[in-house]
Formats: sequence, C-alpha cells, structure tokens
Amino acid sequence: MIDFVGRQFEDFPEPNPVTAHGSARVVAFCNQKGGVGKTTTCINLAAALAELGRKILIVDFDPQGAASAGLGLNPYEVDNTIYTLITNPKLNSRDFILPTKIKNLDIIPANIDLSAAEMQLVNEVAREQILKIVLDPLRKDYDAIFIDCQPSLGLLAINALVAADGILIPLSAEYFAMRGLALLVDTVEKVKGRLNTNLRIDGIVTTMFDARTLHSNEVITSLYGGFHNDLLHTVITRSVKLPDSTIQALPITHFAPNHKVAKAYFQLAKEVISRGVVK
Ligand SMILES: Nc1ncnc2c1ncn2[C@@H]1O[C@H](COP(=O)(O)OP(=O)(O)O)[C@@H](O)[C@H]1O
Ligand SMILES: [Mg+2]
Repeated sequence: MIDFVGRQFEDFPEPNPVTAHGSARVVAFCNQKGGVGKTTTCINLAAALAELGRKILIVDFDPQGAASAGLGLNPYEVDNTIYTLITNPKLNSRDFILPTKIKNLDIIPANIDLSAAEMQLVNEVAREQILKIVLDPLRKDYDAIFIDCQPSLGLLAINALVAADGILIPLSAEYFAMRGLALLVDTVEKVKGRLNTNLRIDGIVTTMFDARTLHSNEVITSLYGGFHNDLLHTVITRSVKLPDSTIQALPITHFAPNHKVAKAYFQLAKEVISRGVVK
C-alpha cells in the first residue's frame, strides 16, 4: 500500500513571488457528487494562494451559495449575483465582484436565484458559452479564477467546463465517491472534444481522508492505480475543524492557520503552483 499519509508533508518548492497580476487560469472545482469537499477545497486553496500573494477570484456557481457563506457573505442579502450576470451577459462583470475579509481574495456570489438559470439558458444562443463570455474579461485582473460548481453535470456545469482551462476534482476518500469519477471524466472528454479543446484535468484532490480506516487507505491506493498522474499528493484529512471554520465564515487557513488541515491546504497551494495549475 502506498504511504500517502506519510507524504502528507512532502516539500514542494517555495513558490516565487508574483510581481504583476493577470492572465488568470480558470479552474473549475467539479464533481457531480455533493458533500465531497468542493466548496471547502475551493475556499481554502484560494485563501492559501491569496496568502502566497496570488490574486484570486472565486465564482460561486452553486445555488446553495456555500462559498459565499463560507467567506462571510449572506447569500440572501446580495443582489448582484452570478445569476444576474449570466442572464444579462452584457452587464459589466466587474460590477459583480465583492471583496472578502481575506486580502487578495474576491468573490462573485450566488444564491438560490441561480437554480432558475438552467431552465432560462436552455433557449439561449451559445448557451454553453455564457459563463466564459462573462468571465474572460476578468482574467487580466487575477492570477486565478476558481469556479465552485454545484453537484450536477447539467448545463451550468457544462458552462463551467467551457469557461475553464482546467478542472480540479475534490474526491472524498470513500468508495461511493469514486463511483462517479468515470462519468465525470467522460463528461470532461466530451466537452474537450466539442466545446473546449484546451480543457484538462488539473488534478484529483483526496479529501476527508481518515488514516484510521483501512477503507480510506484502500481508496487512495486504488485511485493511485487508476489516475497515477492526476492524483495530487497532498491529502486533506477529515477534521471537525472544517465545519467549525464554516460557522466562523472563514477558511481554516485563516481561522486556525496552524491546524494540520490548514497546513495541508497551504501545501496543496504549493503543489498546484509547482504543477502550473496556478502561476
Ligand atoms: N476534510 C474535511 N473533514 C471534515 N469535514 C469536512 C472536510 N471537508 C469538508 N467537510 C465538511 O463536509 C461538508 C461538505 O463539504 P463541502 O466542501 O461543502 O462539499 P461540496 O461542496 O462538495 O458539497 C461541509 O459541512 C464541510 O464543512
Ligand atoms: Mg459545494
């Protein structure tokens, strides 16, 4: 069995400082299964990268608004959401950006309104391209744009895959979570073939790993067998500190920066920089 937990504090190179912001890569955090750590990984990786001097925009693309809430916004009190923008793509995307409590980290929020978008976009021309059209003009202001997707493979998810350069797949270390992976990879291949030839899988991030269970270890071993090159080495362990940090509306990287899960997200930030996912 591969000792992934032993690798948890593998040393990735100290990233170079960024001197000028811009030419953001767009990365979609995607998995059609809910509760696998998409939002948690999106927020915490973004916050860790922001701490490393990268300028990051999170686009909350889930009607649950969990990324917005996790960064301290009340999704019911915001008017300018991604829903308004994609249903009125002629508006200026910049007007929809809000700052967060974290330096270098901004967000375009979402709320329940977004659940109507899927139906509304169906009859639009270029209905798969709308998110790309509204996000492309923002690339020059950021080092990375992260899209926190909802758990589905519907039209909104396809919009995210068309807008993105790469996808990061958070996957909880459980057999049930692994079962949907083939379908997701298949969807990525279809989008790549038909709508976005540049799309690539930037990596699979194992989350909610529990070293005490043989089960978690077996899942990682089997992932490593099937997705050797795509499986990121940083492993996020299971910890109640993560739900706690949600209640504080702060990423764990800022709520408890010395906690081992916060350290793992800082390591993940270095790993994705070393792989060229983020500059
Ligand atoms: N490593 C972890 N350990 C324990 N709980 C976690 C971990 N990562 C996420 N969670 C919790 O699990 C739930 C689902 O995570 P979330 O990131 O919202 O998943 P998704 O966006 O895929 O639906 C949340 O309550 C979150 O706080
Ligand atoms: Mg989520």
